[in-house]
Amino acid sequence: MPRSRFCFVCALLGAAAAFVLYLAAPPAARAQAPAKPVSFINDVAPLLKEACFGCHGTKNPKGKFSMTTFENLLKGGTKEGPIVAGKPDESYFVDVLKATDKQMMPPKESGGPLKPEKLALIERWIKEGAKLDADVVATADLSRELRKRWVPPTPWAAYPFPVVVNSLAFTPDGKKVVAGGHHELTVWDAATGKLEKRVYVRNRRALAMAFLPDGKLVVAGGRPGEEGDVCVYDLDGGTPKDVDGVKVYDGVKDPKVLVKRLLECDDEVLALAVSADGKKLASAGCDRVVNVWNLADGLDKAKVEQTFENHADWVFGLAFSPDGKFLLTSSRDKTAKVWNLEAKESMLTFPDHQNTVYAVAFKPDGKTAFSVGEDKQVRSWNATGDAVKQIRATGGHGQAVLKLIYHPKQAVLITCGADNSVRTWNADSGAALKTFSGHTDHVFAIAVSPEGDLVASGAWNGEVKIWKLDGTAVQTFNASPGLKK
Ligand code: HEC
Repeated sequence: MPRSRFCFVCALLGAAAAFVLYLAAPPAARAQAPAKPVSFINDVAPLLKEACFGCHGTKNPKGKFSMTTFENLLKGGTKEGPIVAGKPDESYFVDVLKATDKQMMPPKESGGPLKPEKLALIERWIKEGAKLDADVVATADLSRELRKRWVPPTPWAAYPFPVVVNSLAFTPDGKKVVAGGHHELTVWDAATGKLEKRVYVRNRRALAMAFLPDGKLVVAGGRPGEEGDVCVYDLDGGTPKDVDGVKVYDGVKDPKVLVKRLLECDDEVLALAVSADGKKLASAGCDRVVNVWNLADGLDKAKVEQTFENHADWVFGLAFSPDGKFLLTSSRDKTAKVWNLEAKESMLTFPDHQNTVYAVAFKPDGKTAFSVGEDKQVRSWNATGDAVKQIRATGGHGQAVLKLIYHPKQAVLITCGADNSVRTWNADSGAALKTFSGHTDHVFAIAVSPEGDLVASGAWNGEVKIWKLDGTAVQTFNASPGLKK
């Protein structure tokens, strides 16, 4: 993403400030031990996940020491039995945490020693017998167990600050717009800009959305570095609560609202695509994995048809060919690619962006691909044949181009970008058509109504605008409910 999702310096400053506070605390407060025994899953595992899993995860763990299950943690790596129950002083797990030489864990270059109170917690857990909580099995994946215990916060009644709109979708009747909020989806009347529904969800941000032919909404998202998912919601399901004229739905727990959780993974899901016939769904994201579901027999019988990794970094963009036989993908690895879904193999790689490729689209003839990215260009290229060749590159946004849609009825491309604008282009000639100006911040999301008469755009500052295709703004609202001005 153009704006960093994680501020490393802020994190360091935060850690430093916490340490200063710790030193400033009176010794009595520091020494005071909580009465409850230390829980492995609630107290220790989160520390290990944060400080150790990066190098001691499932894939090629350092020192052959994987900590992702309790069983593996007790087994150890090249040296066996790192934890001696009841005896922190005899546990070399504790030795490396206290080491000041090259044995130091986490190593100096990745943050160095744990904060004293964290180390003390681990030592106390070992002293108390290094027990596993009764409701966790020793072979369970610890990241998954931690996710299961995580409870999403209830969205703010009134947002204290605006939240970026990462994704938008028009409802199938073209009358409402769904926007991704903070742990919720919000549904707005496109004509009046009035908030109608709030659907609380687990995702911190909804990063991609698509309606299925039956009117249910697929949403992808997650929490950075923690989890990702693909869920299907019925925006008319369950019994909503009425709060000041707005219907509030529980999409976290109510199975009539959250009708299906198709995927759960370890990092955010960034992209979704539904095939033109509605029978296939694809998702992809930070773990680089592309999943393709077959929905031909309905959502209940949805099954993953294929899973593949074709990129070396996060996958940002996905689009099915009109016949559903090919899938375009684009990535932070600076390429866009064509995957043959029938042969299950990679067909073409388009390298010309030389920078992150955020979005892709197919021309209705299935022969031409469009892609946009950090290099500020809208590019077209052949999506069939043996060798890839660029057809055209068009600047215009002058800044990173973040999303791309092919108009449902006309040979028109719609793009949005970090220059605060939405633009339309003649998809055949590449000529610039209209510039939709009025946003005052980067435009991260666009959607087009099913009939193609309206475009919705959403910006970093939470502002959503509804436009006619000629670039006239017909509605503006902030998608952060009750925003305090
Ligand atoms: C930046 C990567 C990195 C992080 C983060 C990290 N380790 Fe390590 N760890 C290593 C490497 C590399 C080795 C292997 C060192 C060697 O073989 O000399 C290792 C080895 C170990 C070993 C010895 C394993 C064996 O049997 O040989 C232990 C125990 C260990 N780490 C504990 C931890 C703990 C606990 C944490 C978190 C608090 C942690 N490490 C975080 C990279 C890391």
